[in-house]
Amino acid sequence: MNLIESLLSPTGRADPFPRYAEAHRLGPVLPITDTAFLVVGYAAVNEVLRNPGFGIPADPSSQPSLELMQRSILRANPPDHGRMRSLISQVFTPRRVAALQPAIETAVDDLLDGLPAEVDFMDRFAFQLPVTVICELLGVPASERQRFRPLASDLTAALELTDASDASADAAAQELGQYFAQLIRDPSADGLVSALVAACDAGDGRLSDEELLANLILLLVAGFETTTDLLGNGLAILLDQPDLTPAVRSDPGAFVEEVLRYDSPVQVTTRVARTEGLSAGGVSMPVGSDLILLLGAANRDPARFPEPDQFDPARTGNKPLSFGAGAHICLGNSLARLEATVAFTHLTERFPSITPASRPTRRDRLVLRGYQTLPIQLQLDRRYAPVADRRTPEQARNPSRSPDTSCRDADPRR
Ligand code: HEM
Repeated sequence: MNLIESLLSPTGRADPFPRYAEAHRLGPVLPITDTAFLVVGYAAVNEVLRNPGFGIPADPSSQPSLELMQRSILRANPPDHGRMRSLISQVFTPRRVAALQPAIETAVDDLLDGLPAEVDFMDRFAFQLPVTVICELLGVPASERQRFRPLASDLTAALELTDASDASADAAAQELGQYFAQLIRDPSADGLVSALVAACDAGDGRLSDEELLANLILLLVAGFETTTDLLGNGLAILLDQPDLTPAVRSDPGAFVEEVLRYDSPVQVTTRVARTEGLSAGGVSMPVGSDLILLLGAANRDPARFPEPDQFDPARTGNKPLSFGAGAHICLGNSLARLEATVAFTHLTERFPSITPASRPTRRDRLVLRGYQTLPIQLQLDRRYAPVADRRTPEQARNPSRSPDTSCRDADPRR
């Protein structure tokens, strides 16, 4: 079995990392044919992503789900890409993201308040937080949010390298398309949807109606599936290595960065050589060459990261390629980092002990890597317990000696 077949096999999808290590031993760029290459080295992947001569491959598919993605910024080449990027960047600004912090803190606290002692983290937290935040940002009403998880999951199956996507991806594309078409027309809509509609109407670099729709759906889908996976992958690492908890508390940002490197939610992207004379990692690539870029492998390149298979939040100069690089670098990277940093800060503060309840299950995907279920058991820090439960074990044994926590003591008039 060759490396690609091995990566796409069920065991390869479940654990691609030994295959990545094997690939690094063979070199940074591995020819598959004369015009197809697997790019695995950090420097080579970075070089390709930053070189405008490499573009997004056109997909001749007439599958509706892929056609929809094809019209979005993610799959656009110059000059369309620059036009879309500057329009979306006008409304999806760092200021707008930073302003979301209080809403993110509240959403995290609300979700943590509602967690029972034994729970599936993916279902009750990792999915809920990003969907709440992105819907808040876009202006999608709370009542609509729950239906998006299966739809996004069905739609992103179309991004896998295999032919696994099917009618369910097309049905999801259709349903999301109908939903956003209606939201665009809704005069009471606010948030990014209405800001984007207004920017489109005012500016010179307008988006067509179809592009507007495709980009809104992309923002929704890109905005939560990947972040859900970042939260799940991070917690799974913490369950495996609970002694990392002090490191999370002292520098949650560094922990999140190392999660991105070690178990990236997006493992793969693709490019095509669009101009003459291109090369990467010293290998020449004729016009039309197809490139598979293994972001997850680049993040484990021993030439860039010492001991790449060790999880080490104290790494210096940790700059994983998990959000890509160059013209298409992820527009939501600061939002995803902010959500994960707030989430891990509050989680570890509130729950001194988080342990596995039963075996987690991975989603059977290579490109978007995450968990389907992550059952955990939580032990709450006493400071966050309801007042009646904030007793020491000694006080619990001798209730008569417990301090009176009723309102009477708190009333300064007494
Ligand atoms: C952990 C979370 C996330 C990861 C790992 C991630 C990863 C990526 C990657 C790798 C790309 C570039 C793909 C390429 O060059 O082929 C990308 C692009 C993009 N991401 Fe993210 N993303 C995340 C979260 C988000 C969020 C929260 C949003 C929006 C709210 C978002 C919106 C986008 C958009 C719009 C693009 C296309 C940019 C362009 O083509 O110019 N992403 N993302």
